[in-house]
Parts: sequence; C-alpha cells; structure tokens
Amino acid sequence: MGRVEKDSEDKSFFEKIWTLALHRGFVIPSAEIYGGVAGVYDFGPLGSLLVKKLVDLWRRFFIIEETNFPVYEISGATILPYEVLVASGHVDSFVDPIVVCLKCKKKIRADHLVEEELGVRVEGATIEKLTRMIRENSLRCPDCGGELSEVSLFNLMFKTEIGPLGGKTAFLRPETAQVIFIDFKRIFQVMRGKLPFGIAQVGRAYRNEISPRQGLIRLREFTQMEIEVFINPKESNNYPGIEEVANSKFRVLTREGQLKGGRVVEVTVKEAIEKGVVPNAYMAYYLFKETEFFERIGIPRDKFYFRHMMPEETPFYSGGNFDLEVELSIGVKEVVGNAYRTDYDLKSHMRHSGEDLSVDVDGEKVIPEVIEPSFGVERMVYCILEHCYREDDGRGWSWLQLPPEIAPVTALILPLVKREPLVSKAKELFRTIRKSGVFVEYDDRGSIGKRYARADEIGVPVCVTIDYQTIDDNTVTLRNRDTRNQVRVKGELLQKLLLDLSEGRLTLSALEALQS
Ligand code: GAP
Repeated sequence: MGRVEKDSEDKSFFEKIWTLALHRGFVIPSAEIYGGVAGVYDFGPLGSLLVKKLVDLWRRFFIIEETNFPVYEISGATILPYEVLVASGHVDSFVDPIVVCLKCKKKIRADHLVEEELGVRVEGATIEKLTRMIRENSLRCPDCGGELSEVSLFNLMFKTEIGPLGGKTAFLRPETAQVIFIDFKRIFQVMRGKLPFGIAQVGRAYRNEISPRQGLIRLREFTQMEIEVFINPKESNNYPGIEEVANSKFRVLTREGQLKGGRVVEVTVKEAIEKGVVPNAYMAYYLFKETEFFERIGIPRDKFYFRHMMPEETPFYSGGNFDLEVELSIGVKEVVGNAYRTDYDLKSHMRHSGEDLSVDVDGEKVIPEVIEPSFGVERMVYCILEHCYREDDGRGWSWLQLPPEIAPVTALILPLVKREPLVSKAKELFRTIRKSGVFVEYDDRGSIGKRYARADEIGVPVCVTIDYQTIDDNTVTLRNRDTRNQVRVKGELLQKLLLDLSEGRLTLSALEALQS
C-alpha cells in the first residue's frame, strides 16, 4: 500500500509560514470580526496579487502557449441544477465518512482519524469497516476523549434553491469541470472545433469539508484551474507534437513503487508512454508540462512527483489518475489531480439530458474521451510560500525568494532619504512604472535597511534606490533581493527592465549583470 497522507512533525515551520501569510496580508480569515468561518479565507492585497500572477502565468503556459491544438477558456456559473449533479454522480457519491463525538459533538472525518491514529491506509473502506476499526482500537474523540458515534456518509455539496419559496434544488459546484462538460457541445460548435479540443476554466468550487484544516490546504471554498482535453479515443497516443518533448523528464511514483515502499523514479515522456507508465500520450505530456510549471513557480523538482493512484483510490470509470504531490512540512499534499476521465462524463450527461453530445469525425459520430489536469490555486499558494521561504542568511531577517514572474510586488522604489529632490524624482519614477502596468510600490518610511527588510519579507525582487547621483546623471541603483548586490543602471532603462522581469523575460542574475 502507498503512504498515508499523515501530518508530519514540523508543525512549527507551518506556523511560521502561516503567521507570515496572515501578518503580511497574503491571507485573511473570512468574516474574522465575527469569529471567522472554518475553511474559508479571503486573499488580502498581497495574496490577491500573487494569485493574479499565478493564474496569468498558468493561462499563458497551458492555454495561450498551447499551439498544438486549441484550448479555450470559459467562465461558467457556480450554481448548478440538481440534475447536473445527479448525472455527474455527485449527488450519490460525493461523500466522505463522518463520525460524531457523542460528548462534545465534534464532527470528524472517520477515514482521516483512523489513518492518523493507526497509521494504515483505509481508502475505499466501507462505513461498517471504519466503525469496526474505531471500536476494536478504542479510538476516542481527539479533542475531549469522548465516545464516538457509528460512521455514516456525509455529502460534501452545499445545497441551495433557485427561486423563492421552495424553488428548484441546486448545488454550488463542487468542481469547475461539470460546467465544461455540459457546455461542451455548444463550445465545440461555435468554435468550429476539431479533436483534440481543450476547454479550460478558472473559478471557485465549494465543498462542505467535514474537517477543514491546515490553512489553505483543506478549504470549503477554493479556486480550481482545470482543463478538459477532449480527444478522439482512437488517437489517445497521438498527441500532436509529442516528439518535441519525447526526452523531457518527470518524476513518478508508480503503483509498483508504492507497493515496494515508495521509490520515486524519473522517466522521459517517451519511456512513460512506451512502458505504459501512463495510460496515454496526453497524460505524459501534461505530467511533463506540470513539472516545468511547478519549477517555474519556485517548487524545486526534487520536492514533487506524480503518484499513480492505487486501484482502490481510483474512480471506477477512470483510465488512470496521477496526483501531483508536493512535500511540505505538514506532510505530502496533493496539489494537482490528473485524471483520464474517459467518456464517462459526456456519456452520463447524454443519458440524463437526452442530448446528443457526440461530435462528427470524418462522418462518424464519436464521443470524445477526456484528460483532465485540475489545479488547486490555494494549495499552490501555500506550496509557493513554504518552498520560497528563506531563513535569515546573515541579512538580519527572513525573506521570500519568489520567482519575479509571480512576485506580488515587482520592485520597491525608494528615495535614499526623505528629502527633495529625491522624493519627487522617486515618485515620478513610481508613477511612470505603474502606468506601464508593472505593480511597484513607493516607500520612504524608515531607514534604508528597514525598507530592504520589508521588501525582502514579502519577496520583492528588486529595490530601486534614487540618490543624489540620480539627480545628476539619471542613473538608479538596483538591489538584487537574492544576492543583495547592487548595480547602477540608466533610469530610462528601468521601465523595460521591470516589465521584462515581471513577465519572465529577464532573470535577477541577468539584471545584476547589466551594470551600465
Ligand atoms: N475535477 C477534478 C477534481 O476536482 P480533485 O482532486 O477533487 O479533482 C483538484 O481536485 C484539485 O483541487 C486538488 O488537487 C486540490 O489542489 C484542489 N482541492 C480539492 N479539494 C480542495 C479543498 N477542500 N481545499 C483546497 N483545495 C482543494
């Protein structure tokens, strides 16, 4: 069996990151002044900027730069009628096992409790088996030690009504994917589609989790970035352009590897397809692309891998699921789910709606199959904060080594001292750069050291200092956050340099080499 997703010992590191996230305005507990809501968080100013940049980069990487076949983004409704979620299987099967403390009434996820207390994996276990394990091992409420109820099933969807006074039953969507399936035929037609054909969506999903926990990891409202790639079932190994990435590598934990104790191996895209490590070429392509993407957002390659889910964890209709798992101080967490959903969803919606969702391929009716990479934004944000966090390396404070492409603030513009004409010159530069669309901040409060510290703590890649020499020759100094080295460059270059840095065309080391 594979490993249990168990909380690791280093809770203090998680607390450090979480405190940073709260104190620096990345995250705000929702409805905080009313005591907060478990599993619901707001993104504060820095969090919103980070999410915007992360989503923009994802969009560029997986949609705009995907030129082998079209991928179109949609923005669907978050309320779905009952019938849609009956067809998708969520009404019947989107359930988790729950147990209630008979003394303090705490509701606990039964499988998590058993896994954490007994250190065994219980995926797919029936409620009867879980109840038996709880009774036989005398498991009690982790909070008050009280006796626990029998295990039952709890549906995770948020139920609501459309229309007043007993309107139509509906649910908040538990995943963005279903909107794509029900809109598929129309989108395919209006965009004059041909297989393969991708539809993507970034948006909110809602799950009434039994035990939300670990900050951004298990939430009741969160953001998904999903792509449904519709393919011709006869051509699942013909990803157009696969030969260009044939020798690119990704790390994988196979089923066999899990049975033998969990060794991660590196494979090329070609090997993965030829040796049947993945079910088809599309899956191999996305696992490689995700590897590139995760490295680009600051997660080191040796800290994540794709785990082939074991048969008992895999939905019955799936042709194979591969979770991108990231090693964190609080244990290993799934951050992206990759599923080969076959033609299950389209067929099911055909049956329930009575609509024909097949497409025409050379005069033949074909029901496409689907490959689905599904990313969770909040989990990615937490991974970024944790993996980009750097302890004090002699500078006197901890700092965030955020890749400039996703850093919320690209540069801090600061006059050396709060005096004229330095202040006016710095403000003029600040306004010019903001107008070019790059988010920079102006700061003239406190010593220069304190201002560097504030910038480093939130991962600002560059500090631009305006000093008396700037007034003489229009040059400014740029401080590289990572090395703390400074270079002097011409003021007229600044706008372009910062734009290139914020859009990933320039690295901090290339910037440092630019002494003018
Ligand atoms: N459409 C497929 C789907 O929804 P999933 O594995 O249930 O698959 C995909 O979810 C991703 O969404 C996960 O890998 C995770 O990043 C994120 N996610 C799921 N449930 C979450 C929760 N309760 N809180 C935060 N993120 C969650």
